[in-house]
Amino acid sequence: MAAIIMDGRALSAHLMPELRAHVDELKRGFGCTPSLTAILVGDDPASRQYVKNKQRVAGELGCDSRTVRMPSADATTGALLKVIEELNADARVNAILLQLPIPDSLDRFRLFDAIAPEKDLDAIGASSVGGFYRGQWGRFIPCTPRGVLTLLDYYRVPVEGARAVVIGRSDIAGKPTALILGGRLRNATVTWCHRHTRDLAAICREADILIPCVGADTGRPYLITADMVKPGACVIDVGFRRVGPGIFIGDVDFEAVKEVAGWITLNPGGTGPMTVLALMQNLIDATRYQLGLDRAAYSV
Ligand code: GUN
Repeated sequence: MAAIIMDGRALSAHLMPELRAHVDELKRGFGCTPSLTAILVGDDPASRQYVKNKQRVAGELGCDSRTVRMPSADATTGALLKVIEELNADARVNAILLQLPIPDSLDRFRLFDAIAPEKDLDAIGASSVGGFYRGQWGRFIPCTPRGVLTLLDYYRVPVEGARAVVIGRSDIAGKPTALILGGRLRNATVTWCHRHTRDLAAICREADILIPCVGADTGRPYLITADMVKPGACVIDVGFRRVGPGIFIGDVDFEAVKEVAGWITLNPGGTGPMTVLALMQNLIDATRYQLGLDRAAYSV
């Protein structure tokens, strides 16, 4: 039986009116337009495209957004700390996003921790991580896992007690996704895999929910092939990489895996649009927190 296709573009479009209503409430009720500032280091085409997508959706919601660009040659930890401190102090900026990846020469954790916690919509600073580490919502759930949770909830995938396998250890995708699914927010039983994992295929075959978040060349055309998927499993493809001009692929061999899985995300068009939607939800929440309100509620 062919899988249910999890369509992130359609789900995002379905939820946009709810986000718009929250933005309108902030504008009309509080005279406050949610405002996002992205910091973009260097000239990576994929990062530029991500930031452009985020700004387009912010515009569609009637939010303000701008980008601070810094050429790689000027990007020292000190220079970026100065930018972050200025944005922290600027009351017109509700949320700050340091677009990743950043060059390895930078002290990433010092930069993450410098972002004011109430503006840290990626939840990458040490004090933001504490919330979901403890199995609570905290201030923010990072954007990729928040989008994954919305997909799982909307498509009614059973998560509690299920065996989930998450592949990847990035600070914004694999690591928080593994912690959040396995914690008290969702109660799955998580196996967390990475490049040193032995016999990945056998572990994947045990997964009720399989979430590869790699997005890098692993020497195979696709990291996840149909023989690695348990029949009926839910496969959420977070990986995304450029393999040629304008050509992007995920970690999963979609055409073959959709014949085995119970659910599968499109990619492109699955977790990408949901990550952007989650970013906007976090921007709305950041603005609400700064006004002394609770986080916004949604139907999913
Ligand atoms: N690069 C790709 N996705 C993201 C994201 O959600 N947040 C940040 N900061 N960088 C990214």
